[in-house]
Amino acid sequence: MALRPYIVGNWKMHGTRAMLSEARAIDRAAERLLKAEVALAPPYTLIHATRKEATLIGVGAQDCHAAEGGAHTGDISAAMLKDAGAGFVIVGHSERRADHGETDAVVKAKAEAALGAGLSAIVCVGETEAERDAGKAEAVVSAQLEGSLPTGDGAAEKVTVAYEPVWAIGTGRTPTVEDVGAMHRSIRQTLERIYGEAGAQVRILYGGSVKPDNAAELLAADEVGGALVGGASLTAEQFLGIIVAAAELGEH
Ligand code: PGA
Repeated sequence: MALRPYIVGNWKMHGTRAMLSEARAIDRAAERLLKAEVALAPPYTLIHATRKEATLIGVGAQDCHAAEGGAHTGDISAAMLKDAGAGFVIVGHSERRADHGETDAVVKAKAEAALGAGLSAIVCVGETEAERDAGKAEAVVSAQLEGSLPTGDGAAEKVTVAYEPVWAIGTGRTPTVEDVGAMHRSIRQTLERIYGEAGAQVRILYGGSVKPDNAAELLAADEVGGALVGGASLTAEQFLGIIVAAAELGEH
């Protein structure tokens, strides 16, 4: 792994202020585990407070609107996230794609809005189980990348890709290490096609049922530069198990 493994916790729609103690504990431990880069994406309501509690880890959001501002009741712009203390935003998570009908074009517009506001973007892609069974997983993911990744000057430097097979999210099921490696190699090729040489440096995270007991093997798969973690990021105890595994790999 060229860069430090990047471990990002996605709290989804979980967390009230009572959970800030978990963020604090994760931050304190991250101080001892500098071989991994750690970040949390709490719900909007906790971004500012998490940024104040945590000094070392990255703090980001789980979505943003593509517009800079305007009559969009209930939405949040990338500039507002930055103002609240976010450094990055996750876009195109499969739950957003499914629950809110977000297309690749919408995801790309959000990613470009994020970069325009000075945030970095984690762009999520991943196939459904039916698509994998039909042998189309790599083609589906490649098309999602072509449609969702931001382009323009310097975009590659501000982007991270998260490969999250839809059928592995929150299910306790994961692809084999070989399948993860094959998909990440395919993603790398697509990144180089889109970004040229700069595509070689983009970090590719794996996400979907990453736990302390499978993190080491998933993180060691080909072209895996870190993990996007949902359920196991909700307690410091579980999340730290994953960060420790990543930090150990980062030693090599
Ligand atoms: P999970 O979620 O770790 O709970 O499977 C991953 C994600 O959706 O980012």
